[in-house]
Amino acid sequence: MSFRIRNADPSDAQQLTRLADAVSAEPEAWLISVAGEWRSAGDERRFLKAVRRYPHASVLVAERDDGTLVGRLSVGRDPHPASTHVADVGLMVALDARRQGVGTALLEAAVAWAREAGVRKLELHVFPWNEAAIALYETFGFEREGYRKRHYRRGGEFVDAILMAYEIE
Ligand SMILES: CC(C)(COP(=O)(O)OP(=O)(O)OC[C@H]1O[C@@H](n2cnc3c(N)ncnc32)[C@H](O)[C@@H]1OP(=O)(O)O)[C@@H](O)C(=O)NCCC(=O)NCCS
Repeated sequence: MSFRIRNADPSDAQQLTRLADAVSAEPEAWLISVAGEWRSAGDERRFLKAVRRYPHASVLVAERDDGTLVGRLSVGRDPHPASTHVADVGLMVALDARRQGVGTALLEAAVAWAREAGVRKLELHVFPWNEAAIALYETFGFEREGYRKRHYRRGGEFVDAILMAYEIE
């Protein structure tokens, strides 16, 4: 599969919402979200429009040669004045496009964005059962920094998460 990484455009909202809905519907519930729901296409469009004008966050997409979006990564700087050198990452790849380097390519683009933005550290939370994501992050160079007990609400329960981080040289 051939694909390219580019900045998301507000006109990607429909496709990105479909991608997020499909990933959210996977029974393993990989994504950290409220009630397993992603934002609406309208909200995603408004979000992407705002991000385009905002220097402290970015949304990157992986686009297959036929125009299909097969991956989405968001990265946003920590708002606390003492940790503005840190940014949080969110990532998803379409089920039929996995294990083909899309996740890695999106992370590489996030590192490039971070360098430009003066961000020195990427961090993320991943559910302990998400072996694919943990393997990707560890292969990429992320390290485990902590274990958050009952940190996220998921349906009627509170679930644990692993905190991982990548230091940018
Ligand atoms: C986790 C996810 C983003 C990985 O994306 P991807 O495009 O498949 O990742 P890559 O192809 O770049 O994988 C790079 C390496 O990570 C590791 N890896 C990725 N998926 C793996 C899996 N299912 N099992 C074991 N190792 C895996 C491998 O070392 C892989 O290299 P290889 O394929 O040469 O062996 C993707 O599975 C996904 O979107 N899952 C659902 C949503 C999700 O979990 N998001 C992250 C929330 S924190």
